[in-house]
Amino acid sequence: GAPVTADISALAEGTRMVLEWRGQPIWIVKRSKQMLDILPTLDPKLLDPTSENLDQQPAYARNELRSIKPQISVLVGLCTHLGCSPEMKAEIKPEPFDPEWKGGYFCPCHKSRFDMAGRVFAGVPAPINLLVPPHHYETETSIVIG
Ligand code: FES
Repeated sequence: GAPVTADISALAEGTRMVLEWRGQPIWIVKRSKQMLDILPTLDPKLLDPTSENLDQQPAYARNELRSIKPQISVLVGLCTHLGCSPEMKAEIKPEPFDPEWKGGYFCPCHKSRFDMAGRVFAGVPAPINLLVPPHHYETETSIVIG
């Protein structure tokens, strides 16, 4: 499939836009400072906090935030277990399945959980972090996926 371009100039903090690339949903999320500050505190609960699995992301997104720019997260919106579509839970509030929920992505199919960098929690069915697709910035506010 051809690359697709996303204009993120109107993307509000704490929200997500969804586009399609190669038949897959691509999420672009503008994370708040609060969301970013939580990420390092989650490391002990995660399966692969430092993204050792190199298949999960391009080299330029193999960092703490799994992104090129700190605020902007680009992910393939498919659970790495069996491909369901995880829900975004931007709010930091207790959930029945995890009273310590700090926001992120929740897969309703078999309850896999991921943080706001797409990093998978330990002890859920999904075996690896959400994938980061190949992407780059064409301008400050324009991202090319693919
Ligand atoms: Fe997401 Fe099974 S498909 S947990």
